[in-house]
Amino acid sequence: MIEGKYDVRATVIPADLSQPVTPQSLYDAALNAKLEIEILVNNAGFGLGGAFMETDLERETEMIQVNAVALTQLTKLFGRSMVKRRRGYIMNVASTAAFQPGPLMSVYYATKAYVLSFSEAVAEELRNTGVTVTALCPGATATDFAETAQITNTRLFTHLGVADAEAVAGYGYKAMMRGERIAVPRLRDRIMIQAERIAPRSLVTRLSRLAQENR
Ligand SMILES: NC(=O)c1ccc[n+]([C@@H]2O[C@H](COP(=O)([O-])OP(=O)(O)OC[C@H]3O[C@@H](n4cnc5c(N)ncnc54)[C@H](OP(=O)(O)O)[C@@H]3O)[C@@H](O)[C@H]2O)c1
Repeated sequence: MIEGKYDVRATVIPADLSQPVTPQSLYDAALNAKLEIEILVNNAGFGLGGAFMETDLERETEMIQVNAVALTQLTKLFGRSMVKRRRGYIMNVASTAAFQPGPLMSVYYATKAYVLSFSEAVAEELRNTGVTVTALCPGATATDFAETAQITNTRLFTHLGVADAEAVAGYGYKAMMRGERIAVPRLRDRIMIQAERIAPRSLVTRLSRLAQENR
């Protein structure tokens, strides 16, 4: 599909990132195929809605593996090669969920807080190396995400407006090419994040819960 639309060669390597060995085998596969990875986009991720004491622990453990552990492994493996070449871009897909706790989706929000914190820290370590790390932080976006996470009826997805996936990806790409550390596509979300910094944490958490509740 991509090859038909653009003048590029695409190599697809299907892999399950919930398996701890996958990042290393992906890296080895890229090496064997002599692919020099200039841009790493850690986009794979999923969520799960529900009260923490009632949600499925196995699914949440898988989520931590995909959203946080695999992303960390891939950043290290491909990042090291980039630093050696003194050139590269890494984009880690976090979320606006990274900026506050998320009652009724607690593990997902925590994984995204990890992605944001981790990405900013590594970005600072890599200052002046020719390699940049960008944390893309979209708000609710029209993809399969809400369905997979079983949160299609939450206020977040029914009342607060859902962004277009292509617009979010385009925004993230441009921010990554500029080497920006944090990219929040929507102005509304940028304002909300600033407001949250001065609001009491308990109020922020309560409002976050309201967004995660069903309408
Ligand atoms: N949509 C939103 O509202 C929203 C908001 C903020 C952040 N995000 C983040 O954006 C990223 C992309 O999600 P999306 O919105 O595009 O949702 P999506 O349509 O459900 O896509 C999720 C992607 O993650 C991949 N994935 C999930 N589990 C995987 C696994 N075990 N191994 C390998 N790949 C796996 C899926 O691959 P397959 O298609 O092969 O299953 C798919 O490409 C995620 O990190 C998500 O947390 C989404």
